Amino acid sequence: MPGLFITLEGIDGCGKSTQLEMLSRTLDERGVDFIITRQPGGTLIGERVRDIVLANASAGLAPLAELMLYAADRAQHVAEFVRPAIEAGRIVISDRYTDSTTAFQGYGRGLDLEVIAELNHLATGGLCPDLTILFDIEPEAASARLKARQTAIESERGMTRFEDEAREFHHRVREGYLKLARAHPERIRIIDSSASARETHEKTMAIVAPMIKSVMSDEH
Ligand SMILES: Nc1ncnc2c1ncn2[C@@H]1O[C@H](COP(=O)(O)OP(=O)(O)OP(=O)(O)O)[C@@H](O)[C@H]1O
Ligand SMILES: [Mg+2]
Repeated sequence: MPGLFITLEGIDGCGKSTQLEMLSRTLDERGVDFIITRQPGGTLIGERVRDIVLANASAGLAPLAELMLYAADRAQHVAEFVRPAIEAGRIVISDRYTDSTTAFQGYGRGLDLEVIAELNHLATGGLCPDLTILFDIEPEAASARLKARQTAIESERGMTRFEDEAREFHHRVREGYLKLARAHPERIRIIDSSASARETHEKTMAIVAPMIKSVMSDEH
């Protein structure tokens, strides 16, 4: 595939969105042409699926139904947005992708990992990221960050279900991510994101910049 596909992963509150914003700013400053997106979401249909899976009112969502909603969102996102962009040679950076489903629904909720791998493959047509950055942090530290955010923006629509869930769940998800990283060392790079946002950004750029340079120079 001619483009470059980068995904950002990690438990809730690890700093993905913060890092995506900082990465965007730096890439803009350097004149890099790229697009950002997120899962769930990233398309009009996907944003509607996102509303269903993340709403407080969805607390009764059966784990298998939840898994399939994520797969539906992903199938739409890849077909409508990610694959065409990558095929057109663009750089796409996504806040979450297939590893989130493996970590949350698989390792977190205990759904069958083989079923998840098959569903991920089906939904993406095998479109795999060139690079995945795993922002690794203790769940307690991430939760403290989210609590601070909560009080800072009380007017926001409230906690998502994930933030409500037990800490053991988040520990399983974190361990799941680390297992994934060990299984795919060529694709997944771990960054300790317990340090400042600035430090984490520098570590991110050290990994991303060389890949982007090689894509940009391929075009000439
Ligand atoms: N390195 C950091 N040090 C301290 N606070 C941070 C750091 N990075 C992010 N934060 C703060 O922690 C909170 C969570 O960060 P952020 O929203 O980027 O995480 P996230 O991984 O996108 O979470 P979610 O999975 O819930 O979307 C935010 O309030 C953010 O400002
Ligand atoms: Mg986020």
